[in-house]
Amino acid sequence: MNILFLGAPGCGKGTQSKMLIKEYGIPQISTGDLLRSEISSKSELGNQLKDIISQGKFVNDEIVLELVSKKINSPECKKGFILDGFPRNLSQAKSLDKLLNTINIQIKYVFFIDVPSELLIKRCVGRITCDTCGRIENEYFSDFKEGDKCGDGVFVKRADDNEKTVTNRLKVYTEQTEPIIDYYKEKNILHTIIGGEGPATELTNQIFDILS
Ligand code: AP5
Ligand code: MG
Repeated sequence: MNILFLGAPGCGKGTQSKMLIKEYGIPQISTGDLLRSEISSKSELGNQLKDIISQGKFVNDEIVLELVSKKINSPECKKGFILDGFPRNLSQAKSLDKLLNTINIQIKYVFFIDVPSELLIKRCVGRITCDTCGRIENEYFSDFKEGDKCGDGVFVKRADDNEKTVTNRLKVYTEQTEPIIDYYKEKNILHTIIGGEGPATELTNQIFDILS
């Protein structure tokens, strides 16, 4: 089962991916997470990425494609995968098609999570993520705060989740990512998840219904 999540920053791609991992046991390929882990490694590439991501701009297509290609070709993705945050522009979408054609697999479901834009900044600015297990919570919508414990880990904020950077991420999303919604619509594999402002579990149920 090969699945792709599309949607604006803060729409819930990561949150829904985690629900699918639990249910179907297939791995999530989040390009944002892969890039952040490169930054944490403090490599030369990581330092360059840090600047780009903190401005809310997109990382170069070749770098991202290389990361995705490695993952898709790894044994952990043999039974399927969940793409989260890739592709993000038309060129990446076409590169993904080429990559998948060479290994003879296809994306079966593209889920576009549609969330009113006025909610997205609050979702990102309030987001906290466990630095150990990756659990995603929100300071506005849950009892957890930055610095609280989560098992052996601690909830932390992402460096790109300040209002200025989020505003730019939303602008870049509208200009570069939104157009690929039509690309997948034309392929007849797009499913729009409606009521994206509602509880995460309701959205998960919509997704499970489509997958079953
Ligand atoms: P990335 O990490 O992918 O960030 P993003 O696309 O901006 O998306 P987010 O992770 O912010 O949001 P999400 O949809 O996962 O929401 P979440 O589930 O966490 O990319 C970061 C950066 O890396 C990019 O800006 C770019 O620089 C670079 N990059 C990444 N991929 C790239 C690519 N392919 N090409 C080039 N550059 C790339 O939820 C958000 C919050 O809302 C959480 O607090 C959550 O608890 C809450 N929430 C979720 N759902 C609900 C709900 N239904 N109700 C209430 N609260 C909810
Ligand atoms: Mg995410």
